[in-house]
Amino acid sequence: MGILGNGGRSHWAQLLLLLGLAFVAGLMTSLFLRIDSCKDVFTERSAEVKDPVPLPKSQAEPDLKTLPSDLLTFRNKCGEAAPVAQVRSMLLNQIFDGVSPFEGFPPPHVEPFLQKEKIKGWGSQDKVFEDLIKEVRPQLIVELGSFLGASAIHMANLSQSMGLQTLILCIDDFRGWPGFRLYTFKDIQQEHGQVMLYYQFLQNVIGTNLTNSIIPVPFSTTSAIEKLCELGIQADLIEVDAAHDFHSAWADINWAWSLLKPGVGIMFGHDYYLHVDNRGVGRAVHLFARLNGLHVQPHGAHWILRRPASPSARRSVLSDLEHLRPGKGQGASREHQGLHDRRLVQLT
Ligand SMILES: C[S@@+](CC[C@H](N)C(=O)[O-])C[C@H]1O[C@@H](n2cnc3c(N)ncnc32)[C@H](O)[C@@H]1O
Ligand SMILES: *[C@@H]1O[C@H](CO)[C@@H](O)[C@H](O)[C@H]1NC(C)=O
Ligand SMILES: *[C@@H]1O[C@H](CO)[C@@H](O)[C@H](O)[C@H]1NC(C)=O
Repeated sequence: MGILGNGGRSHWAQLLLLLGLAFVAGLMTSLFLRIDSCKDVFTERSAEVKDPVPLPKSQAEPDLKTLPSDLLTFRNKCGEAAPVAQVRSMLLNQIFDGVSPFEGFPPPHVEPFLQKEKIKGWGSQDKVFEDLIKEVRPQLIVELGSFLGASAIHMANLSQSMGLQTLILCIDDFRGWPGFRLYTFKDIQQEHGQVMLYYQFLQNVIGTNLTNSIIPVPFSTTSAIEKLCELGIQADLIEVDAAHDFHSAWADINWAWSLLKPGVGIMFGHDYYLHVDNRGVGRAVHLFARLNGLHVQPHGAHWILRRPASPSARRSVLSDLEHLRPGKGQGASREHQGLHDRRLVQLT
C-alpha cells in the first residue's frame, strides 16, 4: 500500500522536500567552505605584497596636501666624464656585444622588407640645426627621437661639411607610435607586429655613408639616458623630439639635462607650439626653464634652452621653492598655480 496510493504521493512529496533541503544545506556548506578558502587566499596575497622593509610612517601615509620633492627635481649627477674618443667603443661594448650594428647589414631575412632609402621626418632640415651646429661645433650630439634618421642624417651631413668629427647618438625605441603606419608610413613593413623602423633607420644611415657619425641607441629614452649618464657620456648638443605629451617631454628634458656638458651644452627640441596635450611640449620647456633659471629661445618650430650669460641671472628658482618640499603644505599648490599661470601667459 501507501507508496502507490494517495498517501504514497504525500510521502513522495515529503521525501522530495527532504532531498531538496539536504541539497540546499550541501550547497550552503560548500559555499561557506569556498568563502573560507578564499579568505585564506586573500590573507596570503596581502602577506605577499606586504613590504618587507616598512616605509617610515610619513611616506607610508603620504599627505596629499604636500608634494614629494622629487616631483620637480631629477638626478643631475652622472658618472665621471668619459673622453669623447671612447664613446663609440664604450657603447658598442655595452649595447652591441662589441660588434657594430651596421656590420653585415642587412641580413637576408630582413632585406625583402627594406626600401633602398626612406628618409622622412618633420622639420628635420630646419635652419636651427645649421645655426646650432655652427655655434656649438659639437663633438657629441644626443638625439631623443630619431625615427627614420632624417634629422640625425641632416646633422651628420652638416657636421661633416663643416669639417667636424661629430658623433651622434640616436636614442629611439624605433617603434614609432601605435598606428603610425596607417597613412604616410604604410610602406614601412612589419613582421608579426614587429615594425621594421629600426632596420630602415640602419639602411638609411648606411645608404648615406654616415655609419661613422651615427650610432643608434635602440631603447626607451629614460632607460637609454640612465645608461649614458652612468657611463659619464656628455653631450655638447641635445635634441629632444621623442613623445610630445607634457609628462613625456617633461621627463625627457629633465633626464637629458644631466647628459649636457656642464656650463656649455645647449638643448633644443621640435614642436614648440604643438597643441597636443594642451601644448604639452611648450609647457614642459617653460616649467623647466623657470625652475632652473634658464632662457627659452624660440627658433621657428623649435625651442632652444640656454643658460643666461650673466651668472647672477642663472640662479635657479628651485632654491626659492623650499615651500614645495614635503611638510610645508598649502603654499605648494599656490606656487604651482603661479607657475601654471605665468606659463600660460608666456605661451599664449
Ligand atoms: C617625431 S619622431 C622623431 C623624428 C626625428 N627627430 C626627425 O626629425 O626625423 C619621434 C620618435 O620618438 C620615438 N619615441 C617616442 N617615445 C619614445 C620613448 N619613450 N622612448 C624612445 N623613443 C621614443 C618614436 O619611436 C619616434 O621614432
Ligand atoms: C648633404 O649635404 C649636401 C649639401 O651640403 C647635399 O647636397 C646632400 O643632399 C646632403 N645629403 C643628405 C643625405 O642629406
Ligand atoms: C664615406 O665616408 C667616409 C668618411 O666617414 C669617407 O672616407 C668615404 O670616402 C665615404 N665614401 C663615399 C662613397 O662617399
